Amino acid sequence: MSEILKIIQERHSARVPFDPKRQVSKENLTQILESARWTPTAHNMQNFDIIVVDDKVVLEKIGKIKSHISEEFLRENYEQLSFSKEELLKKKTGILGAMFPPGWVYPERMAEAAKKAEPMPLTQSIRGSPTLLFIVYDSTKRAPASHGDVLGFISLGCLMENIWLMAQSLGVSMHILSSFAVPPVESEIKKLLGIPEPMKIAFTCRLGYPTGASKYLRVRRNIEDFTHHNQYGKKGI
Ligand SMILES: Cc1cc2nc3c(=O)[nH]c(=O)nc-3n(C[C@H](O)[C@H](O)[C@H](O)COP(=O)(O)O)c2cc1C
Repeated sequence: MSEILKIIQERHSARVPFDPKRQVSKENLTQILESARWTPTAHNMQNFDIIVVDDKVVLEKIGKIKSHISEEFLRENYEQLSFSKEELLKKKTGILGAMFPPGWVYPERMAEAAKKAEPMPLTQSIRGSPTLLFIVYDSTKRAPASHGDVLGFISLGCLMENIWLMAQSLGVSMHILSSFAVPPVESEIKKLLGIPEPMKIAFTCRLGYPTGASKYLRVRRNIEDFTHHNQYGKKGI
């Protein structure tokens, strides 16, 4: 197998606590940022800035910010859930409902769960990560003629993948946190880190070294499930 394919397949979401005492070395961080530097972006706009946060005091302050779970999130998250390993293996897309508390996985309980949910400090999302990367972009700019700046967002996705694959190749674990980009959490983080308007947070990366194994079922469709040959609907290559 080619080396790059091996790294692509081994890259995964490290949804586990990280060792707060084991810092990502400056050398590794520099290589991760170098991989970011060479991200392909629409029109080479390089439409991102990265805030590296590895100061304990700042991490603690971020950790004290509280987030709310919304009913909208629970309902849309539900669409991606499987309720057994067998179901997930058959579907080949989405994630296991067992990853979430019961109130998140039963539609009839979601409204109540969202209303009653205690605000959760971000420290429970940071889970010991010694380094966070905040990826921000200028929300007033867009790739030329790109409606909804789809091309700009694809570019940010390329950035995410570059960072993730580089981290994986260096043995640094990574986990994406989308919830830090959701208001009002986003505005509190922006205030704390001095991120000016009109910058917005695209996503946040937790970097570090797990304290335990990250074991969960990862599924993907087969090539023939998403590949069409010369005409949509014509399977096989
Ligand atoms: C744009 C984007 C946003 C994501 N946001 C989150 C997130 O907020 N929390 C999380 O645990 N995983 C998040 N993920 C990770 C995906 O859930 C994960 O990549 C997918 O389930 C496949 O699992 P794998 O990364 O282990 O291959 C995100 C991934 C992408 C590409």
